[in-house]
Amino acid sequence: MQRTSIDELTSSGARPSRDQGQAARPPGGDGAVIACDRLVRIYSTAGIEVQALQGLDLLVDAGELTALVGASGSGKSTLLNILAGLDTPTAGQARVAGHDLLAMTARDRLGYRRAVVGFLWQQTGRNLFSHLTAAENVALPMRLARGRHRAQRRSRAVELLEMTGVGYCADRMPAQMSGGEQQRVAIGIALANQPAVLLADEPTGELDSESADQVFAALRTANAELGVTVLVVTHDPQVSAQVRRTIAIRDGKISTEVLRRAAADGQSDVAEEYSVLDRAGRLQIPRDFIESLGLRDRVRLALEPDHVGVWPDAQAGGRRGVKDAYGEEE
Ligand SMILES: Nc1ncnc2c1ncn2[C@@H]1O[C@H](COP(=O)(O)OP(=O)(O)OP(=O)(O)O)[C@@H](O)[C@H]1O
Ligand SMILES: [Mg+2]
Repeated sequence: MQRTSIDELTSSGARPSRDQGQAARPPGGDGAVIACDRLVRIYSTAGIEVQALQGLDLLVDAGELTALVGASGSGKSTLLNILAGLDTPTAGQARVAGHDLLAMTARDRLGYRRAVVGFLWQQTGRNLFSHLTAAENVALPMRLARGRHRAQRRSRAVELLEMTGVGYCADRMPAQMSGGEQQRVAIGIALANQPAVLLADEPTGELDSESADQVFAALRTANAELGVTVLVVTHDPQVSAQVRRTIAIRDGKISTEVLRRAAADGQSDVAEEYSVLDRAGRLQIPRDFIESLGLRDRVRLALEPDHVGVWPDAQAGGRRGVKDAYGEEE
């Protein structure tokens, strides 16, 4: 994949699209910068179909910093690759900063990848060119976008490296940096052309906890200082504990969301878990609720003044009390 990226970056076919990307952002940053509607991705290999995304709905507002979690194989990388313009969905809709990901031509896609989204891989070696210094790595996407002169590129690259806490690495080669330093340089590369969205697929997965904290801190700084929308896949509970919104994907659909808000005392955070209701009115009941009440096949619903009750089918047995969809005992 690194080969592909190098070829794409250095191919002379497509022109910079920094201006296109910026112009295509929703005016005033209003509304969702990422909008997926019933997104489907089916992989077919050797006659076997895998439904990696099964009608996923997702809205992310401009300027949000969101964590995406889920079991292995749940579809996290599939979603990120689609949003990054590296893969195309089978069906549904996906728009990022005003770009329709299903309608883009190959040329649009290249410009989109260069200027509208920044992408960070888990593997440090995949993010940087080994024969360029940190500053040259960050300046390269700007050079390809042809938006700045050489001296401006250098100073902007150093600024970005300073923002991510690795200004001291500007003239070092990747081999002279730790994995965590390389990932922070990679954030600078991803931000070089002022993307609307920064996507990161387990960027701290190969790092020790201290380096992981520094990389995540750099993502937070980029989000806070530049206002870039960040969507980060993580298995690290420390990361999801530090973001306002964590979305969980299960079997190719968003199943639950955890929202964190400041508590009334202003000192601590309160985290609340929500099930996601899709446009067709479907929601996933958490597995432990299902098991605890022996819910299966069909359930009875009742509309109460302020909630919906969900009862197991008494005929099917296994009735062990009544809970509503959010787990309150009646
Ligand atoms: N290129 C491919 N061809 C066929 N099937 C694929 C391909 N890529 C992914 N899949 C399948 O799609 C499903 C979702 O995979 P995906 O890589 O998105 O999961 P993930 O949530 O990122 O998992 P992990 O946490 O292990 O990285 C899995 O069942 C996977 O085997
Ligand atoms: Mg993955």
